[in-house]
Order: sequence, then structure tokens, then C-alpha cells
Amino acid sequence: MIAHKVIFLPSGKTIDVDDGTRLYDAAKSAGLPVASSCRGEFTCGKCVMQIVSGGENVSVQDEEERTLLVRERNDPTHRISCHTLVRGACTVTTTYW
Ligand code: FES
Repeated sequence: MIAHKVIFLPSGKTIDVDDGTRLYDAAKSAGLPVASSCRGEFTCGKCVMQIVSGGENVSVQDEEERTLLVRERNDPTHRISCHTLVRGACTVTTTYW
């Protein structure tokens, strides 16, 4: 299985995850809290993260994700972490870390 490095800012915590791991699960594996009221079921829109670098190394935002971002009044450039798959090295953050 191919592993990818994910760096979480501002802590700098770094973790290697399998290809296709959700950002949501990567953050939890790194011991970081993830805002959620749906426990990763892609309905609450609270698990938003910002891709600082490596945006080309995560799954492409689809219409469903855009709809949830808008519905929950999130920045449309941010990502719903339970719906975003790691496909390569990336660096991410969110407002509450
Ligand atoms: S945890 Fe609820 S949408 Fe991601």
C-alpha cells in the first residue's frame, strides 16, 4: 500500500497514511480533534479543513461537497474532511487547531 505524508498545522504533527485515507481519519489518527456532529457521515459540514499545500494531492471537490459547504456557510475553497481522500503529500489546517 502506498503511504502519503500529511502535515497538520500549526502543530506540525506529521503522519503517514495509506492512499485513499480520508483527511478526517488522518487527523484523528494524528491525535487531533475534528469538529463533527455526524461522526464522519458527511452530513453536518463541521469537519472543514483548509488545504495549505498539496491541493492537487487530495480528491477533487464534487458537487455534493460544494452543496454541503454552501449550506453550512463554509468557505467554498475549504474541504469537508470526511469526504476528502488523501492521494499524495499534503499540509492541512483548520481554525480550531
Ligand atoms: S464529520 Fe460531519 S460532514 Fe464531516
